[in-house]
Amino acid sequence: MILIHPDREALSLAAAELFVREACEAVADRGRFTVLLSGGETPRRTYELLAEPHRREEVPWDRVHLFWGDERCVPHDDPRSNYRMARLALIDHVPVPPSNVHPIACEGGADAGAAWYEAELRAISHGGIPRFDLAFLGIGEDGHTASLFPGSPLLGVTDRLVAVASKADEAIQRVTVTVPVINQAALIVFLVSGEGKAAIVREALAGMREMPARLIHPVDGRLFWLLDEEAVKLVEEDRIRGEGAKL
Ligand code: 6PG
Repeated sequence: MILIHPDREALSLAAAELFVREACEAVADRGRFTVLLSGGETPRRTYELLAEPHRREEVPWDRVHLFWGDERCVPHDDPRSNYRMARLALIDHVPVPPSNVHPIACEGGADAGAAWYEAELRAISHGGIPRFDLAFLGIGEDGHTASLFPGSPLLGVTDRLVAVASKADEAIQRVTVTVPVINQAALIVFLVSGEGKAAIVREALAGMREMPARLIHPVDGRLFWLLDEEAVKLVEEDRIRGEGAKL
């Protein structure tokens, strides 16, 4: 499903309200709500909106478990850390128990961090592939998602839940969940905002080329693209010309 919003604020509000709805339903049905958080810049506003008092009080935070889809192997107080971004925007402002917050710790070494996080994920799924209730994702201008980059051998990995990744223009390493973990989620939500993403969104939705983000298909769940007008402007032009994208 593709949901188009006027701007980033509206998209972020929709994502926050979706989080609240899914959290309340999951806790009512199964007693807990497990989330795979995305890093990058786009989800920050969603996390901030979740921390706003009137919305914060709607979420049963004591039953919410926060995990990350990927992390840069830097200290958790490093401005590049995905955990730090979520902590400043959300975690410091809501009563989620610290034991329910499961950041990827890999500053001491990517391989050890990936192995440890794999064990963490296996532990919540009795050794199998965890089924997150909600997985937030972003998409890079090259079509990457989480830290699954174009051409990476990780794109075909099916026997591991977590792996060490690296981005061509970065000196640091990263740790990322693999495609099967994302695809096992009950609800996968791409959050995409801004004109800078218009070209990759057009290519992704029109299937114009392969890219990591196009490997994301829920095994038994739902896939939402929450986009703002800027991010779909090239798709809209396609539609106007009667070409391409399937909206
Ligand atoms: C990360 C994310 C990454 C991100 C995209 C989009 O750690 O950076 O996992 O996949 O979602 O690069 O990032 P923006 O939201 O900043 O555009």
